[in-house]
Amino acid sequence: MTVFVLGSINLDAVARVDDLPRPGETVAGTSLSLFLGGKGANQAVAAARMGVATRLMGAVGADDNGPGLKAKLAGYGVQVADVAELEGVPTGQAHVWVADNAENMIVVTAGANALVTPQQVTATPIEGQRVLLCQLETPPTAIEALFRLGAAKGALRILNAAPALPQGAALFPLTDILIVNQTELASYAKLDREPVRLEEVSVAARKLMSRPDQIIIVTLGAAGVAAVRRDEAFLIEGRKVKAIDTVGAGDCFCGALAAALASGMDLREAVELANAAAALSVQKAGAAPSMPSRREVEVFLEG
Ligand code: RIB
Repeated sequence: MTVFVLGSINLDAVARVDDLPRPGETVAGTSLSLFLGGKGANQAVAAARMGVATRLMGAVGADDNGPGLKAKLAGYGVQVADVAELEGVPTGQAHVWVADNAENMIVVTAGANALVTPQQVTATPIEGQRVLLCQLETPPTAIEALFRLGAAKGALRILNAAPALPQGAALFPLTDILIVNQTELASYAKLDREPVRLEEVSVAARKLMSRPDQIIIVTLGAAGVAAVRRDEAFLIEGRKVKAIDTVGAGDCFCGALAAALASGMDLREAVELANAAAALSVQKAGAAPSMPSRREVEVFLEG
């Protein structure tokens, strides 16, 4: 019962604004906060908060930020022995703007995240890791190395293909479960608009399949989550909550889903749990700090 995450670790500098600026516009921020973030770190925290043993592989700089972020991860129960501290390289950073209506814009500078190598992956024993979980903020070559190792060891390989990158599609054939949002789905399936209804989401998702046994999960924001197999698809509706900060909600879903599957839940149960976890996460500020505990999710599901 373990989750192994390969992914990014960032310092998120989050400025709250009334409205997001337009190009060329300067707006006043109402607050500035620093949080642990990065899609890999967020997903690892989400999985660990579900009570499942979770390891994170990645890299930070040996600078003012890296060791502190590792300590925060460890504080959430994430095993960080596979997070390298690299000399002379900055830790990844994300500049995040969150508006009053909870919309956001993010610019990421990868720093050490870009220096995770296939060699770092192959030097790490992954025996006993049931679920492997990656995103596209670390080099695809490293993800490929992990997924090839994982295939040989019978692990479940989950790829959250975010942010959408052209080279990300080359990893789809190595993936058992692919998770994308509507924007990413439209980009990978080369559509001129985002699919909305379950039927059109399913048609688009099936375009990304390269094996009959693959599962494509599409997060639909407030509308919920669609899970698509070759011959069937289902929708779990979104839960009505007041969102104050949606940064990391997708990461919460991915980490909680990986943890649920590692602990033996079937796909529908796991999607329901992860959907509820994500709904809780948008009600708190920050990415990693907003990940709910298993108990909070269970209480929410019962209520
Ligand atoms: O998915 C949200 C994350 O994307 C943020 O925490 C930020 O660091 C960027 O990586």
